[in-house]
Amino acid sequence: EVEFSLRPRNLQEYIGQTQVKENLKVFIEAAKMRKEALDHVLLYGPPGLGKTTLCHIIANELGVKLYTTSGPAIERAGDLAAILTNLEQGDVLFIDEIHRLHRSVEEILYPAMEDYCLDIMIGKGPSARSVRLDLPPFTLVGATTRAGQLSSPLRDRFGVVSRLQYYSEDELSLIITRAADLLQVEIRGNAAREIARRSRGTPRIANRLLKRVRDFAQVMGDGVITEEVTLRALEKLQVDAYGLDHIDHQYLQVIIHHFKGGPVGVETIAAMIGEEVDTIEDVYEPYLMQIGFLQRTPRGRIVTPRAYEHFNLEPPER
Ligand code: ADE
Repeated sequence: EVEFSLRPRNLQEYIGQTQVKENLKVFIEAAKMRKEALDHVLLYGPPGLGKTTLCHIIANELGVKLYTTSGPAIERAGDLAAILTNLEQGDVLFIDEIHRLHRSVEEILYPAMEDYCLDIMIGKGPSARSVRLDLPPFTLVGATTRAGQLSSPLRDRFGVVSRLQYYSEDELSLIITRAADLLQVEIRGNAAREIARRSRGTPRIANRLLKRVRDFAQVMGDGVITEEVTLRALEKLQVDAYGLDHIDHQYLQVIIHHFKGGPVGVETIAAMIGEEVDTIEDVYEPYLMQIGFLQRTPRGRIVTPRAYEHFNLEPPER
């Protein structure tokens, strides 16, 4: 699949997240020198910033196998036991959305992480007994959009905790240029920069916009991604100058027009625009706060004068 081949395969190819990358490089090298499993790693931050990609890179750099699953996919303790007992020395287990692990599963994860052993109950009633299984030393990589939702006993068992940040325009420009290269499409520097500017600091969005703009360039032009075709495509895609889409607009407009700019509770906004509270909190709000369009206060959400300006509206008196 194309999407996968766009992913960087090693730290060298990985653009951005400099701090996280440099530290991981040291920890990986040290673990390899000691011939030990890398300590457990927690990656957190908004979606699309490269948590899964980094996990593939960690396994690749360590030269070990990677097993991938997600919090909600592990329904019973036995499901996790089956995965853990299949691991070999030093392997990486990736659990995406680790904040959604079932409590019963989470509990058997603690001794697995801490002492590389599993305590499982077999049988029922009077003949039930607990057996202890030894596991090979392994590395758990957990990913979550919200470290705050993780229970503290789980969070405390990660030796490396890294927060991924939104990417700068320069970094996104490089990522887009690299992806265009891999897709074998010609792109002008100012076109790459325009897409970068509207990608909400997020490589996943940058690559998606690049592919859609490429479609326009191919059908409406000669295949070259110029600034002109890019601007036209982004307009058709309803991506504004800040990279805000239809749902961001709806979100801000509801607060502006129905609540005089706020404060208003997130549940109310969610109900009015028909989105999940979690999606709003994990996907939409972090970027709106990052660009200074939104403030979260104890009394609710407030739209800032800068957002009013973006819509050519007068901010209310406060
Ligand atoms: N593609 C998506 N994310 C990337 C990154 N951080 N570096 C290089 N290419 C990418």
